[in-house]
Amino acid sequence: MDRLYKELENYSKKDYYPFHMPGHKRNGNSVDGDFPFDRDITEISGFDNLHHPQEILKKAQEEGAKLYGSLECFFSINGSTAALLAAVSACVKRGGKILMARNCHKAVYHAVYLRDLKPVYIYPQIERELEINGGIAPCRVKRMLEEQPDIEAILITSPTYDGVVSDVAGIARIAKEYGIPLIVDEAHGAHFCFSNYFPVSALKLGADIVVQSLHKTLPSMTQTAVLHRCSDRVSGDEIRRFMGIYQSSSPSYILMASMDACLDKIARDGDAMFQNFVGNLKHVRERLEKCRYIRLGTTDMIGNAGVFDFDRSKLLFFTKGTSLTGHELHTILREEFHLEMEMESEYYVTAITSVGDTKEGLERLCNAIEEIDRREALKRIDERKKEIFLDSAPYMKMKQVMGIAKAMESPVRKCLLEESIGKTSAEFVYLYPPGIPILVPGEQITGQFVRNVRRYMEQGLDLQGLCDYTNRTICVVGE
Ligand SMILES: Cc1ncc(COP(=O)(O)O)c(C=O)c1O
Repeated sequence: MDRLYKELENYSKKDYYPFHMPGHKRNGNSVDGDFPFDRDITEISGFDNLHHPQEILKKAQEEGAKLYGSLECFFSINGSTAALLAAVSACVKRGGKILMARNCHKAVYHAVYLRDLKPVYIYPQIERELEINGGIAPCRVKRMLEEQPDIEAILITSPTYDGVVSDVAGIARIAKEYGIPLIVDEAHGAHFCFSNYFPVSALKLGADIVVQSLHKTLPSMTQTAVLHRCSDRVSGDEIRRFMGIYQSSSPSYILMASMDACLDKIARDGDAMFQNFVGNLKHVRERLEKCRYIRLGTTDMIGNAGVFDFDRSKLLFFTKGTSLTGHELHTILREEFHLEMEMESEYYVTAITSVGDTKEGLERLCNAIEEIDRREALKRIDERKKEIFLDSAPYMKMKQVMGIAKAMESPVRKCLLEESIGKTSAEFVYLYPPGIPILVPGEQITGQFVRNVRRYMEQGLDLQGLCDYTNRTICVVGE
């Protein structure tokens, strides 16, 4: 038995005619446009079934477990989203309690909603110098477990979208002490295991489940992710059951083959690929650290605000003290230099780098940032005045007055945002990306929240979640 991606390639060259799904019949002429129809098959003989893997897909997932050193590796063709839904569902019984970082991705909140869980939030500390979320401190996790012994699992995001890594080993020790599983959303850290230039993966630090999006930082197609089971504290059968519920019954072979090809390539050539990437990245960081106005996020943040480590593959460009907002910098990079960033925020933009980057691509980014920095130098001091609003931390503490499911399913009414202060939200609000809710159903709306929303809108940031796409009204609980 060969690797899935190779078998798929061989099969695409054979003369089998499909009297089965998909309806394109592997016929590239059936629509306009260029799609990889020749490899887009279904569960035909020899290609196994993701929901009951016994052959080639079993092998592909076993190879994933071997590469990462986990007990079991589950492929997700619905990203880390399905993997997180499954992880939470497998670890916490319906209606149970979960301790979760308040800066989790919306997928975790959706798991809480679907399973009607009681979330206990732990807020990350704020890294005041950069005004980004810091880490989750183990001592605070311990305190919360002491206060609420019925908590059934812990879930943290590490690294965050900004590359901030928490003390996972410390938190894992506490989870063990209390006999509950630790789930780590490592969606942005699928590359950690392949070079010690990057932080140590939660896989090696005692986490029980680790979720990684292959598509975010490795050469794999969008939607591809893996869920690793790392200990027997979590049932493999339960994970399997929930992965079966949250994923399509017709998983894409193109996506699964892409995962298999990615893992195979890294197993074979990963050392050389990562050596080359890290060499390029070090060079880029050395150059960009020299900019005088556009400030690159560096490992200097380690040790502050619970930041245990920092993923150097994330390039964060801060605009405080320049004439630009994050949105303006993002726009210049896009429109003038044709460089598409991963994320814009009020005061910074984020570029994701990976083994897939070319030297030329990285060179273009360096040249653009250096040029923008030179332009800043020519500006008058009073023009370089972008300051951080001190009360602007996006994930300010909110009062939870009702459960998520109850708030979403109660009678609701629409209300002008300005008139919603003090009321209970029935909707999520988040900046996208990163897709971390700044307001969760069941939380009380504050004046500061409304002011922040207005400011984000003035700055042109992408606010999502409200059913009113203009963000003028919000659904609140009550007739
Ligand atoms: C921290 C984090 N977790 C989970 C997800 C969901 O991942 P996916 O897009 O692979 O479903 C994201 C997506 O951006 C994320 O940033």
